[in-house]
This record gives sequence, structure tokens and C-alpha cells, in this order.
Amino acid sequence: MMKIAIDCDDAAFEFKDAVFSHLKEKGFDITDLKYSESHDCDYPDIAFNLAEKIADGSYDRGIIICGTGLGVAMMANKVPGVFAGTCHDCFAAERLAKSNDANVLTMGARCIGVELGKMIAESYLKSTFAGGGSAPKVSRMRELEKKYFK
Ligand code: RB5
Repeated sequence: MMKIAIDCDDAAFEFKDAVFSHLKEKGFDITDLKYSESHDCDYPDIAFNLAEKIADGSYDRGIIICGTGLGVAMMANKVPGVFAGTCHDCFAAERLAKSNDANVLTMGARCIGVELGKMIAESYLKSTFAGGGSAPKVSRMRELEKKYFK
């Protein structure tokens, strides 16, 4: 079963709790990392922590929520092997998995309502990479990324 991690910054505690409970009720194997409860930090460290856990294989997919979804996406994308995208609609969330094979979804609690957030998260998690014409493009992303591997 796919293992999922979720986390958020101070702009999104209630939003994250609602999305977490919803996904748990739907039967997803999801863990709330709550990184900021034990570390005095903001979204850069919160996103980096979750992304590292995706990169090391502890989790298959991640969801990170901040005010806009943007800062956490930027930071998650700094970790090699992690591909994160911000989605505020269900179509894009589905394509994020089907076309881009992204392993992290980010959302902004100040951009959309929580009911839409639940639907977006579910759309993303229920979708898997479709391959086909997207396969060479995703391979190319992974290839180009290697240029900056240490
Ligand atoms: C608040 O810290 C806000 O800057 C943050 O949640 C996020 O929106 C950044 O991208």
C-alpha cells in the first residue's frame, strides 16, 4: 500500500488536519509528520524534511500545505528525486500524477477552501503515472536533474 506523508506550516494547521482526517477515513496509509511541533522552524525546513523522507524511500508520496503552496513546493523541489507541484484544482492534481509523475502535491490554505483541498488531495492520490507520451518527458526531467547531483 502506498505510504503517504503530510505536513504544513503555521498558515495551514486546520486545513491540514481536515485533509489528513479525510484521507485517513478514505483508507489511505497517511502519517502526519508535524515537524514544526518538535522543531522551531518555518516552511523551508518543514518542506525539506518531508521531501527528504520521500527521497530516502520512507514514504511514496507527500502532501505539504502552506499559505499559498508555493514556498513548500520550491523547497521540496530542492531535494533530488523529489518532484512537487502546486495544485488548486482537481484536473491539475490528476495530471500531476498521470503526466508529471510527481511525488509531492502542495496546496495553499489561503488560496482554496478545505472541501476543495480534500478533493484535490484525493484526485492526486488516486492517480498514477500514465506513461505513454509523458514517459520521455519525465525521463528527461530526471536526466537533467542529475546535472546538479553532488
Ligand atoms: C506564511 O509563512 C506564508 O509565507 C507561507 O505559509 C507560504 O505561503 C509561503 O509560500
